[in-house]
Amino acid sequence: MLPPVRIGPSILNSDLSKLAEECERMIECGADYLHLDVMDGHFVPNLTFGHPVVQSIRDNLGDRPFFDVHMMVSKPEQWVKPMADAKVNLFTFHLESTDKPQDLIKQIRDHGMKAGCGIKPGTPVSLLTELLYTQMCDCALVMTVEPGFGGQKFMKDMMPKVKALRDQFPDLDIEVDGGVSPDTIQYCAEAGANMIVSGSAIMRSSDPKGVINELRSVVEEFSVPR
Ligand code: DX5
Ligand code: ZN
Repeated sequence: MLPPVRIGPSILNSDLSKLAEECERMIECGADYLHLDVMDGHFVPNLTFGHPVVQSIRDNLGDRPFFDVHMMVSKPEQWVKPMADAKVNLFTFHLESTDKPQDLIKQIRDHGMKAGCGIKPGTPVSLLTELLYTQMCDCALVMTVEPGFGGQKFMKDMMPKVKALRDQFPDLDIEVDGGVSPDTIQYCAEAGANMIVSGSAIMRSSDPKGVINELRSVVEEFSVPR
């Protein structure tokens, strides 16, 4: 049995001038959490927003929605406190962005947040499992596109990473991010992902609620014991 299935829209491809409204719309459509993509133009070749914007969304939406900040930044340590102050729930950093992932996980938890650790497509999953055997975190993120932009093509060849993680850590939250849509969700579900990030497939749909429901029901189908 998988950990609970959760769908987290990425608002990167929404109307960024109306972020709070867009986030609210996603919650109304049945999102379980919001995936907020923070980029610094250095770790990835794109720039989005940082903690002041996350804080503003939090102030607008109240304490309830679960915020997952996907930190595509070079110095994640620097933003732990400001994100904690913005009542972020899950702080997901990239393994490639720090020499001291164990210390960072502790720092994140000391600030009252859950800690997630992600890997880019070129990073072997063994580096992440090695970390998890020495310092367990709360969520493992497998990127299914090169981080930086929404709307890219799903990389199916990342699925063995998800499966390797699921085989070794049956209770771990495993998140996939990039190009996940009703056309590709089956692969993620089969491999064992339970936290599903989807950006353009949800945001650009005329029926976002239907897409969220579809993504959830496909993953739930795989999460029941057979
Ligand atoms: C890419 C971001 C993703 C992205 C997902 O670097 O981390 O969260 O916005 O969007 P789609 O689903 O359109 O690939
Ligand atoms: Zn993301």
